[in-house]
Amino acid sequence: MITKIRLTNFRNFKAQVFEFSNKTTVIVGPNASGKTNVLESIYAASTGKSFKASLQEEMINHKAEIARVKAKVGGDILEVILTRGENGWPTKKLLINGVGKRLVDFAGIFRVVAFGPQDLDLVTESPSHRRGFLDTVLSQVDREYRRAILSYEKGLRQRNRLLWRIREEGTNRSQLLFWNQLLIKNGDNLSAARQGLIDFINQTGAINSQDFSLDYDKSAISEARLAQYATEEIAAATTLVGPHRDDFVFRLKKRDLARFGSRGEQRMGVLWLKLAELAFVEEKAGERPTLLLDDIFSELDHDHRKVVMAVVRSKQAIITTADPHFVKGLKGVEKISL
Ligand SMILES: Nc1ncnc2c1ncn2[C@@H]1O[C@H](COP(=O)(O)OP(=O)(O)OP(=O)(O)O)[C@@H](O)[C@H]1O
Ligand SMILES: [Mg+2]
Repeated sequence: MITKIRLTNFRNFKAQVFEFSNKTTVIVGPNASGKTNVLESIYAASTGKSFKASLQEEMINHKAEIARVKAKVGGDILEVILTRGENGWPTKKLLINGVGKRLVDFAGIFRVVAFGPQDLDLVTESPSHRRGFLDTVLSQVDREYRRAILSYEKGLRQRNRLLWRIREEGTNRSQLLFWNQLLIKNGDNLSAARQGLIDFINQTGAINSQDFSLDYDKSAISEARLAQYATEEIAAATTLVGPHRDDFVFRLKKRDLARFGSRGEQRMGVLWLKLAELAFVEEKAGERPTLLLDDIFSELDHDHRKVVMAVVRSKQAIITTADPHFVKGLKGVEKISL
């Protein structure tokens, strides 16, 4: 549970401290007052990453060189320090109680589940969004997964570079063997963990009697599959099979939600997915994650707001809204006005 966060040159905040109750905190403010930025900073303290910026230095205030996030979580102090760096090489430092940590050891101490309007992209946008979802959830609860994904991605870059050298420079193909084995070993772990998560999600009940499910579209990696694509891979200078090509399809009563679902049904599909994520993280971690809800109530109808509020009440939740009336109907919540 997070009790306090101190932001220094983080996005629009020069120097600001926010405190959070162990139940629900509602951050209220007009558009562009910094509500999403506060949630992003909490997310960064949890994962070491942004849920929004593709480049982490975007989180540094326009007029500053260094951004700091310092969060008090239980008895620990989690810190993220970002710099623009020299010659366009930005740096990131992660610290727990003042001691520098690698990402694998930093993420997973403080667990959050974030849900905002951009999550609709999970249904409608490219497979990389859906792989990102799987990685984010599994990384929160499984250190071995964090290690495997970093190792796989690094191996993939090396293997693609080697494929390029085989094509362009005639480098010997036998060098591929090492990378094949590394990718197969880590790839098997990633696929198994992803399958486990998708199976768990599929056991989650219907919401408001709407029956959603996920189909795992797995790109298996093995010696046989790599051998099958060997010629194409060298021609393309890129690895064509493996978890980096995974995807999943959302279904509503067996139909493809991205193609046939209404906007509202797609939104419910994402809500269903997020509730399943919450249950998964809670079960695997053995404790309740903090919920970060960015401006989602305005998009939900009455029944679905009730579904969300029922979950919110049993966990630490930090909610943003631009609607001051929203707060009036809520009892027992702390309010932060921006
Ligand atoms: N690196 C940065 N440096 C300074 N300001 C920034 C930076 N990145 C974003 N901002 C500004 O921070 C302000 C607040 O953004 P934020 O997205 O948190 O607003 P919000 O309260 O969530 O608004 P909305 O209700 O529209 O969602 C915006 O004006 C944005 O332009
Ligand atoms: Mg916002």
